[in-house]
Amino acid sequence: MLMINDLLRHNGSISEYLSSAVTKVIESGWYVLGNEVKEFEREFASYCETNHCVSVANGTDALELALSALDIGEGGKVITVANAGAYSTTAIRAVGAEPAYVDIDIDTMLLDLAHVKKSLNSEISAVVVTHLYGRAAPVEEVIAMADKYNIPVIEDCAQAHGATLNGKRVGSLGAFGCFSFYPTKNLGALGDGGAITTNDPLLAKRTQMLRQYGWQNKYEIALNGGRNSRLDEMQAAILRIKLPHLDSWNQRRLLICQRYTQGIRHPLITLPLFAPGSYVGHLFVVRSQQRDSLRDHLKRNNIMSEIHYPIPDYRQPAFSGQFMGVLLPITERVCNEILTLPCFPEMTNAEIQNVIDTANNWVAA
Ligand SMILES: Cc1ncc(COP(=O)(O)O)c(C=O)c1O
Repeated sequence: MLMINDLLRHNGSISEYLSSAVTKVIESGWYVLGNEVKEFEREFASYCETNHCVSVANGTDALELALSALDIGEGGKVITVANAGAYSTTAIRAVGAEPAYVDIDIDTMLLDLAHVKKSLNSEISAVVVTHLYGRAAPVEEVIAMADKYNIPVIEDCAQAHGATLNGKRVGSLGAFGCFSFYPTKNLGALGDGGAITTNDPLLAKRTQMLRQYGWQNKYEIALNGGRNSRLDEMQAAILRIKLPHLDSWNQRRLLICQRYTQGIRHPLITLPLFAPGSYVGHLFVVRSQQRDSLRDHLKRNNIMSEIHYPIPDYRQPAFSGQFMGVLLPITERVCNEILTLPCFPEMTNAEIQNVIDTANNWVAA
């Protein structure tokens, strides 16, 4: 069975190096906020071309701590999309604020600039721009619009490590870039992990304090709203081994996406836009009105697929009562049509061709 993401093959390709990094940490006797974390933060900030990186426990915490550092809480309203797995919604609700959902563009499946423009007003506290599926969203345009109201923009880069926009890395453009190092991400740990990037020393300091109880010094809480959200030394050491490979892994992902784009030809399958540079091939997401039939066909041929994501945030059962009036037509349509095909750097050329041939042979039920 071909998985959409084969972590055993991915991490197996560098397992010797990962093992020695873990051994080094074990033998160091220091496991939380030590040298590995400090060095990883320095290296990741440099990779993202930002002045600061503050590592945290996961990507959702990165978003939550970014909002907290900007003093967004009770009564706040944060613009976000509803097709990106509810991570931003979770973070916004965790600080006591409310999501203000905007619809997406049908071709890119990223936030729709016209809708953002209509939704911006002086009651909005922040905008979260999600770079989804490895595709950089038009964050510079959002920043230009939000600046008129003095509203900060947070980039959610959890699915776009290494993507660039006009030569600048995602995560270096907004007030904050928020990253996840969940194992399946383009840069993934062997467990949970996350980071915040910023060019603002004050925001970096606030985030650093918030990730550790609000401490200014050990046992001295100087900032309200602090948490425990730290990246541990093992994960930092693992990420340091993997970071130098990120660009070549992204290249391979792009090549896979390019082959799919050139090879898949089916009247019932709409391919995603292919735009190298601003795209790092995190997930290859096609659309079809008969998505479930395509999914069954792939599965019968030993090819797994996935739906990222099936339920718009405002329809999630736990809080749908709160968003009764919200209905975003493009988001609704996309959630019903999308299907993610396998894409990971270790996929062989034969496997890529098999996915293409199998998709092209599909006869809709
Ligand atoms: C777009 C997006 N934002 C945020 C997150 C949250 O990251 P984590 O799972 O590390 O909390 C994820 C990943 O799962 C994601 O895909």
